Amino acid sequence: MISQPLHSSGPSFSRIIAGAWRWHTVSPETVERLVYTSLDEGISTFDHADIYGDHTNEEIFGKVLQREPALRAQMQLVSKCGIKFPSARRPQTWVKHYDTSEDHIVWSAENSLKMLATDHIDLLLIHRPDPLLNPHEVAEAFVKLKAAGKVLHFGVSNFTPSQFNMLQRHLPMPLVTNQIEVSLARVEPLFNGDLDLMLELGASPMAWSPLGGGKLHFDDRDWFAKASKYNATYSQLALAWLLKHPSNMFPIIGTTKPERIKESAKAIDIPLDKQDWFEMLKWAMGGREMP
Ligand SMILES: NC(=O)c1ccc[n+]([C@@H]2O[C@H](COP(=O)([O-])OP(=O)(O)OC[C@H]3O[C@@H](n4cnc5c(N)ncnc54)[C@H](OP(=O)(O)O)[C@@H]3O)[C@@H](O)[C@H]2O)c1
Repeated sequence: MISQPLHSSGPSFSRIIAGAWRWHTVSPETVERLVYTSLDEGISTFDHADIYGDHTNEEIFGKVLQREPALRAQMQLVSKCGIKFPSARRPQTWVKHYDTSEDHIVWSAENSLKMLATDHIDLLLIHRPDPLLNPHEVAEAFVKLKAAGKVLHFGVSNFTPSQFNMLQRHLPMPLVTNQIEVSLARVEPLFNGDLDLMLELGASPMAWSPLGGGKLHFDDRDWFAKASKYNATYSQLALAWLLKHPSNMFPIIGTTKPERIKESAKAIDIPLDKQDWFEMLKWAMGGREMP
């Protein structure tokens, strides 16, 4: 598996990333296997958020690092902040909302460091665009975290191009990515300017739910022919489709099964033909031809 820079200023990530969102649904032993299998396959980047697993997933992952601290040097860690929701673990929150205040961003990142049992996060993202986002506060938080060496790079998730540009104008460092939902189950970013902006800025997008969260519907007959042509599985084809896009997307796979980590890693080697790519887009658009 190749590693590539997300942006000219870094960081360098494995082209396929392992997402930890669903990892609280399996045992800690399976999480450990997922970590080791990912690393064995060259999937060295792990995507977290403070809230995953009702604020437990980072800690479960951190236990793996506590048992084997040498693993940290072989991996890159992404986390996110800015979402708050009612939870027994956060009794002071009574309604789901966003908080991108300086204090909360710094507190959340420092808490993620503790949970993940690490001294730095490679990339911290603002999880969702906050209607009360004050870009000066975000800038203050990012500058503090970077100066302390606690976070190396910064980005956003689910931002529109205008939200991305607005925040970027207030920051002394580049936003290196926008982590967005894009897949054969959600092709809008190809047409709504999300990917155009990434190409314009030379920032690679991270693609969440690359298999539509497991709900991609494959038309058996057509997909069977394509899978045979490439000697690939459907999910490998769906990942190869994202990997072919010139914006240099980094798909974040969400499987909880080590064997599917291995399967996904092989998607990188599928040389998808341009016409097959367009045929898959046509299926994704319900059979509609390109205009
Ligand atoms: N920034 C954001 O707002 C945001 C939002 C959502 C997610 N994310 C990130 O994106 C990551 C991936 O999201 P995701 O989990 O929705 O990704 P996904 O890879 O599209 O979906 C994973 C789901 O699909 C199932 N699956 C995988 N391969 C399959 C196959 N061949 N056949 C049938 N089902 C299959 C998995 O089940 P098994 O576990 O049984 O394999 C799992 O339930 C998350 O872990 C998180 O890091 C970010």
